[in-house]
Amino acid sequence: MTRFAILASGSGSNAEALMKAAEAGIIPAEAALVVTDKPNAGVCERAARYGVPVAAFQPKTYETKAAFEEAVVHELKQRDVDWLFLAGYMRIAGEVLLTAYPGRMVNIHPSLLPAFPGKDAIGQAVAHGVKVSGATVHFVDAGIDTGPIIAQTPVPIDEGDTLTDVTARIQQAEHELYPKTAAQLIQEERKRVGV
Ligand code: GAR
Repeated sequence: MTRFAILASGSGSNAEALMKAAEAGIIPAEAALVVTDKPNAGVCERAARYGVPVAAFQPKTYETKAAFEEAVVHELKQRDVDWLFLAGYMRIAGEVLLTAYPGRMVNIHPSLLPAFPGKDAIGQAVAHGVKVSGATVHFVDAGIDTGPIIAQTPVPIDEGDTLTDVTARIQQAEHELYPKTAAQLIQEERKRVGV
């Protein structure tokens, strides 16, 4: 059985969408681990509800970013994790992580990349008055929300929409897009290797 881990720093609503889809068999893989850099993040409680173990790593307790990521990768390998799904993981992946999971590290971002990378993508979209934003799933590279795009969903922004309205609509789109895309990626890989 393919195994995936989720890296998250926040509330974990996307992590929950992935765990729920794995539990329901929509993603043909097991949610093996949640890794967080914020031990008090909401994602920890959500993981507990799905019976998914959590490993919390505090970057400031490591001398270097590489040492922090080596500890994370050690845990991932111990648990036989095949795929990494970043879900509100607010750190730039370094070389250690990127080298450990080439082509198997995926992120979700709340905009139609390459528009509005980085933090507060929804706020930036609303501030610019764009009429369409959305959600993007992409492979992770060394940049900030820059890797090759896998899937996108457009989300309209209507006259008079508040930041709260737009946030809710984009998050809804994310919660549909991410599990669906994760399932496709894993299915495609299983077909390729003949499982
Ligand atoms: C999500 O909207 C995700 O796309 C975004 O953080 C939010 C986390 O929410 N990620 C980025 O902005 C990455 N640059 P969640 O913790 O409820 O899933």
